[in-house]
Amino acid sequence: MHLDFTSLSPREAYSWMATTILPRPIAWVSTISADGKTNLAPFSFFQGVCANPPTLMFVPVNTREGAKKDTTRNIEAVPEFVVNLVPFALGEQMNASAAMLPHGESEFEKFGIATAPSQRVRPPRVAAAPVAFECTLDRIVHIGEGPLAANVMFGRILVAHVSDAVLDAEGHVDAAKLDLIGRLGGDAYVRTRDMFELIRP
Ligand SMILES: Cc1cc2nc3c(=O)[nH]c(=O)nc-3n(C[C@H](O)[C@H](O)[C@H](O)COP(=O)(O)O)c2cc1C
Repeated sequence: MHLDFTSLSPREAYSWMATTILPRPIAWVSTISADGKTNLAPFSFFQGVCANPPTLMFVPVNTREGAKKDTTRNIEAVPEFVVNLVPFALGEQMNASAAMLPHGESEFEKFGIATAPSQRVRPPRVAAAPVAFECTLDRIVHIGEGPLAANVMFGRILVAHVSDAVLDAEGHVDAAKLDLIGRLGGDAYVRTRDMFELIRP
């Protein structure tokens, strides 16, 4: 079959993209409002961008009503965030934190997710996350307008917290110990424990 994306509605386009661009890593992003209220939400349109300077990106889109999500509003007010990674053990809490709470109500408090202070940015990190990247905002790139339009957040990585529990004897990250989850379409996820190797020519 062929899909003419120029004639799909935004929701149809999203559905086809979300069920084919797989698996997607999950940025579990903590932010803080100007008056100090914390916020936590997952985003699977997420990737590393480059190492010089160390940069990552994730994409909070506008709501179906065209409003900015709390994450976008907070980063516009306080241009800092923490990208926490999500192991299988934290999947349920990550999913709970995707609830659309009223602006200013903290998912950390509502769902009992423990915080740890960050070193270089104001938003706290998820204490139990095996990896957390403290970032300052590099820039926001707006793509489209209205419902489902994107606010692409580019973050400069200042500090990474890596749990000793996910390191091997040489001090390298062991992907099996990290045991992250990735998002598939709908409510489906994968685990990074299913691995194989390809030796590069
Ligand atoms: C696994 C997962 C991945 C998600 N990925 C995205 C995404 O890439 N972009 C987005 O705008 N919303 C995404 N969402 C939905 C947001 O998490 C949800 O809208 C959340 O309420 C936004 O929170 P906020 O208003 O506190 O920023 C995702 C939800 C889940 C469970």
